[in-house]
Amino acid sequence: MAVIGESSAVSIDGRQLGQHQAALTVMQRLLSAPGIGRFTWLDLACGRGQILSGLGNSLSRDARAKIDFFAYDVKQDYLRETSRVASALGFGSVAGEVGDLSKFDVLLPTEARFDFITLTNTVHEVSPSQLAGVLVDAVLRLNDQGTVFVYDMERVKPPELGAVPFSAHDFRAVSDALIETLSDNDYRPEVSGWKHSTVNGWNVQIQREYISGTQNEIETRRTKATEDTRGAIFGVLGQRLVDCRRTLEVLTTNGAETAEEQEDREHLLHELWAITRALEADA
Ligand SMILES: C[S@@+](CC[C@H](N)C(=O)[O-])C[C@H]1O[C@@H](n2cnc3c(N)ncnc32)[C@H](O)[C@@H]1O
Repeated sequence: MAVIGESSAVSIDGRQLGQHQAALTVMQRLLSAPGIGRFTWLDLACGRGQILSGLGNSLSRDARAKIDFFAYDVKQDYLRETSRVASALGFGSVAGEVGDLSKFDVLLPTEARFDFITLTNTVHEVSPSQLAGVLVDAVLRLNDQGTVFVYDMERVKPPELGAVPFSAHDFRAVSDALIETLSDNDYRPEVSGWKHSTVNGWNVQIQREYISGTQNEIETRRTKATEDTRGAIFGVLGQRLVDCRRTLEVLTTNGAETAEEQEDREHLLHELWAITRALEADA
């Protein structure tokens, strides 16, 4: 998968971002279940370990000692930085792997299962043709009570060439397609929109215990789940391309007068490029 050149991960010392706090709140619940001895956490596309900032305050020393933390990122220097931060937190163990997201399932030990898998601030960087596989693989790597936590923003500011962010509404179609095929029941995880002053975001928690079927049964649904999720992703992108072109046509004729219209124009031009590129790569 080609990595977005304009991407960068933040590292803001001592400040916890809302999305990371939300993920840690989910982890707090999972870690508090009776009988939890070890707790395995996979942070996909870990960046510079920003999710760990403030974790020393949110979880007790005893809770942290239960965590076996596994970081994964395509950038070696990010993985090193995250591992350094994690090692200072008193986790039970810290390990990691460098690799492309589309390969994480192949690179991790076959038997490894996780209580918690995080994918924060990254969906927009994942190639749309690989995103379905990444999401399905993550769900299939969960322990029986495990949760996948995904957060991303609806728009990338400043825009990054090639990035494909999803709105909460659009990601709902993706998430529904994924779970509808993986699970026999009516489980449909809620995709919640987050209203922010600058860029809105969304998050979803996928809980393994609500997906009907044994591990073997859901493994047999892997190929179809990936195909259906991929279909939903490209369905959403096809519609967005139509909307994007229509709005650009209006701006071409009428001009972008206000500051907001000018920002929209820049956003739409990036959107046009990113979606056209994704559709061409998939053709
Ligand atoms: C915006 S950062 C988010 C980092 C972190 N999850 C956070 O919430 O702060 C996106 C991360 O995704 C990683 N990334 C982007 N494309 C990737 C790929 N194809 N495979 C693995 N990691 C990737 C980047 O290296 C970067 O660390």
